[in-house]
Amino acid sequence: MTRPPGDAPGAPAPRWSVPGTCRICPSILSADFGRLAEEIAAVEAAGADFIHVDVMDGQFVPNLTFGPIVVAGIRTMTRLPLDVHLMIVDPLRHLPAFADAGADHVIVHVEAVDDPGAAARAIRARGLRSGLSVKPGTPVERLIEALPDCDVALVMTVEPGAGGQAFLPGSPDRIAAVRRAVVSRGLDCLVEVDGGIDVRTAPLAARAGADAFVAGHSIFHASNPGGAVRALRAALAGAGAAEARP
Ligand code: DX5
Ligand code: ZN
Repeated sequence: MTRPPGDAPGAPAPRWSVPGTCRICPSILSADFGRLAEEIAAVEAAGADFIHVDVMDGQFVPNLTFGPIVVAGIRTMTRLPLDVHLMIVDPLRHLPAFADAGADHVIVHVEAVDDPGAAARAIRARGLRSGLSVKPGTPVERLIEALPDCDVALVMTVEPGAGGQAFLPGSPDRIAAVRRAVVSRGLDCLVEVDGGIDVRTAPLAARAGADAFVAGHSIFHASNPGGAVRALRAALAGAGAAEARP
């Protein structure tokens, strides 16, 4: 894995996933695009860890959002890592464009590639954090078998394609299966959850083993998005998931 910028040469690479540390990742899908820079600044000031960017192509999922040009625009609005979630067919075809646009993490769906491990290695080969995501109806084993090549294991907790849906009740068991595999193999990989995450469901996901929390609706549809980030972190701390940050 590439060393984060700014690290002294020769120093041991710090762990990427830190036990007891929760990453909060606001999803701009639910932001007000007329005031996007302001919205992103508010969540960054409130301590968000990554900005989650949902790319949809109208084929892998019915909805259509945005591509690399918009990611490049978002890159100018924040210093936070961009966690780019590709809900598109043939995602590796577009990897160079998203890398050039300033993505830090590129997450592709196991359902969209023939060989998830090879896809994750291709993302790392671009010097990016690699992510693989699994839809609720796909066996998590398809993600688990590729975990050694993965920096972010994204367990979808709703059907991908739209914000504002309810957290699926079968999710904690799937999160726990991924967490067990990460721990038993001693891997340095985040277990991220996406969909229906709020102050009530984030603790359920955390207790099952999640340590990165994507939230769109519950943050950007709140009257105060910065306050919503802090409330989510407080809910996670209250649930026994530490609020320490890397
Ligand atoms: C759904 C997207 C999510 C979405 C989550 O397909 O991957 O990132 O923004 O939205 P909420 O938090 O509103 O469920
Ligand atoms: Zn997403």
